[in-house]
Amino acid sequence: MARKLTVAVVGATGAVGAEMLSVLADRRFPVDRLIPLASHRSAGTEVSYDGDTHVVAELGERSFEGVDLALFSAGAATSDRYAPLAVAAGAVVVDNTSFFRMRPDVPLVVPEVNPDALDAHRGIIANPNCSTIQCVVALAPLHALAGLRRVVYSTYQSASGAGHRAMEELKDQAVALLNFRDPPVEKFPRRLAFDCLPHIDKFLDDGHTKEERKMVEESRKIMGLPALRVSVTCVRVPVFVGHAVAIHAEFDRPVSVAAARAALAAAPGIVLHDDPSAYPTAVDAAGQDPVHVGRLRADDGLDNGLAMWVVADNLRKGAATNAVQIAEALIARDRLRVPR
Ligand code: A2P
Repeated sequence: MARKLTVAVVGATGAVGAEMLSVLADRRFPVDRLIPLASHRSAGTEVSYDGDTHVVAELGERSFEGVDLALFSAGAATSDRYAPLAVAAGAVVVDNTSFFRMRPDVPLVVPEVNPDALDAHRGIIANPNCSTIQCVVALAPLHALAGLRRVVYSTYQSASGAGHRAMEELKDQAVALLNFRDPPVEKFPRRLAFDCLPHIDKFLDDGHTKEERKMVEESRKIMGLPALRVSVTCVRVPVFVGHAVAIHAEFDRPVSVAAARAALAAAPGIVLHDDPSAYPTAVDAAGQDPVHVGRLRADDGLDNGLAMWVVADNLRKGAATNAVQIAEALIARDRLRVPR
C-alpha cells in the first residue's frame, strides 16, 4: 500500500485547479492531507474535494512545509516565485504553467509518451500545453510505426483554456449579443461569442503566437524529435470545454490507414472512432480523460501522409489528469521525492 501524501493544489479555485481536485478524488490518489491554495482574493472560501469541503488558504512562502506533492496551476509568475520554494521545502512540483517547460533540466512529460524522462527530475516536472498533450498522445504510436517527419496542426481551442473568468466572459458575451447589447471584452482579445479568434497568448516578433510556439517546441521536446517540422495555427472557438485539433502528418515510411488504425486502437489513453460519421466533438470529450481520435484517413497532399481529428477535455487530459498521471508515475517509479 502506497504511503499517504500531503498534497497542495496551488490555484485550487481556478478552472484547472478545480479539475485537479476532482481528478485526485476520481483516481483515488493517495491523499492524506489536502491543502488548497489561492491568492488573497479567495482565501477563506471553500472548495470541495471527495465529498468534503476544504477552506482555501492564501499562498505564502511557508505554504509547503510538510508537503510531498504540489500541483501548480496559478499562472507563470506564481510558479516562478513559489515552485522553487516548494522544492526547497521538500515538495515535488508538477507545474501546469509554461514557465519551466523548455528548461533542459526540467522534464516535460506525457506519461503515455515519455515517462522515462521523469527519472531525471530535480524537483520540478512540467505539465505540457493542453493542445500539445492531446496531439502527442495521438502522434506517438504513429511515430513508432512509421517515423514522424512533419506535422501541420490547426487547433479549435475552447474558452476554458483561458481560465474560469474567460468562460464566464464567453457566456456573458453570448447573453449580451442575444439581447442586442455590446458584449464585455476583458479576458479575450476581442469578442469570442459567435466568432473565432486566431489569437491565443501574445504575438511574437515572427508573427506566430506564443501558443503556436509552445506547440512547436513542446512537441519536439516530448517526442524527442528536435528537428521535427511543425506548422501550426491556434484558434480560440466559442466552445466552453474541450479542444479539437485537425492534424496532418507526414511520415518517413509508407503507412496504411489500416496499420495506423491498429496502432491507435492499441495505444494507451486513446479512444478511436472508426466510423467517419461518428466523429468526436469537444462536447463529447468534455468531462472525460481519454484522447478521442476520429476522421482518420490518408492525406495524399503529403508524402506518406495521414490526417485525423483529435479531441480531448483540455482541463482534464490537457491539464489536471496529465498532472495527476505524472504524480502516479512518480510514485510507481519511486521518484516522488526531491533528489539531494
Ligand atoms: P484566486 O481565486 O484567488 O484568484 P483561472 O486560470 O481559472 O483564472 O484560475 C487561476 C487560479 O490561480 C485561481 O485559483 C487563482 O486564485 C490563482 N491565482 C492567481 N494569481 C495568484 C497568485 N498571485 N497567488 C496565488 N494564487 C493565484
